[in-house]
Amino acid sequence: MAESHSDSSTSDNVVWHSGAVDRSSREKQLGQRAGTVWFTGLSGSGKSTVAVEVERLLAAEGRLCYRLDGDNLRHGLNGDLGFSEADRTENIRRTGEVCRLLVDAGIIVLASFVSPFRADRNQVRTMHRSASMPFIEVYVEVPLEVAESRDPKGLYQKARAGEIRGFTGIDQPYEAPGSPELVVHTATCSVEESATSVMTCLEAQGLLKQG
Ligand code: ADX
Repeated sequence: MAESHSDSSTSDNVVWHSGAVDRSSREKQLGQRAGTVWFTGLSGSGKSTVAVEVERLLAAEGRLCYRLDGDNLRHGLNGDLGFSEADRTENIRRTGEVCRLLVDAGIIVLASFVSPFRADRNQVRTMHRSASMPFIEVYVEVPLEVAESRDPKGLYQKARAGEIRGFTGIDQPYEAPGSPELVVHTATCSVEESATSVMTCLEAQGLLKQG
């Protein structure tokens, strides 16, 4: 099957080179469906914690998955980016491309990024849709006061003290998803309950069928 990759900007004078093995044969080989589960929410909302638990549950079922975490990617691939609006957009664009590559490899991707801008998340959704890849947006919803009271990295305290500028929820906006596939409320649900509701959603979305 011909593949292409043309909805984002493309360098001049390059032509897509198709392979002889496609995603569906890789999915068959792995016995799973591939797709991206995108966790969005405030810093301290519990995105990474829930994603880690979902990864554990998926791996226990024998599924091949891979977690992409905002903090971790900023140690490498996205280490040149800061937190301006333009840099966050680039962070999500690059990450969306990595998701697409991993999904093409047949993997279930769990991506946890604040990703505060709706347009950026929608761009990643479109990127997936145009390649017929599942994209499941999970809004990890928590009141700002709760995220701030958790403050696992002490960053809210620094932001309130003016030591960090442009902190999401304090002096930069967070645009909540309009129609995510799932909302989890980590202020009132345990990590296990949130992870279980993600698994139920993945099942309903057909991601847990055999490849
Ligand atoms: S995103 O906005 O571009 O999606 P990303 O998920 O990669 O952000 O990184 C967010 C993490 O960076 C937060 O969990 C927090 O630990 C840290 N961080 C540092 N500065 C900021 C900031 N100004 N706003 C939000 N998070 C920040």
